[in-house]
Amino acid sequence: MADLDDRRIVLGVTGGVAAYKAAELTRLLVKAGAAVDVVMTEAAGHFVAPTTFQALSGRPVASGLWDSGPRGMAHIDLSRGADAVLVAPATADFIAKLAHGFADDLLSTLCLARDCPLLVAPAMNRQMWENPATRRNAAQLGADGIVILGPASGEQACGEVGEGRMLEAAELCEELVAFLQPRILAGRRVLLTAGPTFEALDPVRGITNSSSGRMGFALARACREAGAVVTLVAGPVALPTPRGVVRKDVVSALDMRREVMAAVDGHDIFIGVAAVADYRPVESRPHKIKKGSGNMTLELAANPDILAEVAARPVRPFCVGFAAESQNLDEYAQGKRQAKRLPLVVGNLVQHGLGGETNQVCLYDDHGVHPVPPGDKLSVARAIVTHIAGMLS
Ligand code: C5P
Repeated sequence: MADLDDRRIVLGVTGGVAAYKAAELTRLLVKAGAAVDVVMTEAAGHFVAPTTFQALSGRPVASGLWDSGPRGMAHIDLSRGADAVLVAPATADFIAKLAHGFADDLLSTLCLARDCPLLVAPAMNRQMWENPATRRNAAQLGADGIVILGPASGEQACGEVGEGRMLEAAELCEELVAFLQPRILAGRRVLLTAGPTFEALDPVRGITNSSSGRMGFALARACREAGAVVTLVAGPVALPTPRGVVRKDVVSALDMRREVMAAVDGHDIFIGVAAVADYRPVESRPHKIKKGSGNMTLELAANPDILAEVAARPVRPFCVGFAAESQNLDEYAQGKRQAKRLPLVVGNLVQHGLGGETNQVCLYDDHGVHPVPPGDKLSVARAIVTHIAGMLS
């Protein structure tokens, strides 16, 4: 199932250069399964033609207050049954209108008449964004329960650099998907580990494993979508940080342990997804090891078990472990749960190594085994989050 299947989104487009990103956003929302009704202001039409949005959404584009819809009441009908109205880009002028309740075109009128959540993605020159009038208006939107997405900081179309850029289409799509998830971890603080660790042998070599970090990153995203405050301690991976997640990068198991122990107080949930190396070289050489003629023996020292250490604290968060096994999954996963005193273990069979796009897991708790439908890692992560929230409630 796609993220926005069965959802209807009204996408408002106002007159800013970033309107070109709204075309890509329309495509991404449609690709995610949403029915998208685009409503443009007259000014937006100076940047992108309605035909573009019509072609991308496959639905008629509305613009004028007087081009009616079937009942002659487009300003009412468009938001009825919609899951959200998202205005992207939202100009300074449009934000001012929303803050004051003006209704002098179709988009502002439907925003006033809506019966669903409203999200806006500001896009404007940095001085306009910093102007006290815009700050007042944006604060008013927040007080009125309107969600403000961004803006981002960076290079602007006018050539200046600063805060006011609209978020990228993919970021807006991710934010909207997150907004529509149930807030089942609202008020919770979650700490996760993800990825492999790298145990250095010398400045260029080390011991690691094939964990991609995708499952841990997907879980961090799913926890944040569910309303949690999330900190992610990540081993060496090349993955983008999920939006709204605080990330701390580490290399070795000892680094990971240090970051986790420094952060764990005050967290309600700890999820150890990382494939932490069980052993590290006793000695990490300061210079590259030179090739010899015969075999070489490496002496390894056991690494601390981070999860077991967190779970053994007198005041401990709700601890979730992962068990990636190549055989006897039920036995090993339940054994690990008992040995580390964990309320929940997520187990999966890894006959073909770690790091794929999809996953198939079973959840092990006091009540037994709960298989999760196989799927992409984000949908599996959401199912795990639902189970955790159920255990905590
Ligand atoms: O005992 P095993 O290594 O199979 O346990 C896996 C679980 O323990 C995972 O949740 C993993 O993140 C965690 N772990 C850890 N520190 C280690 C080894 C494993 O936190 N040194």
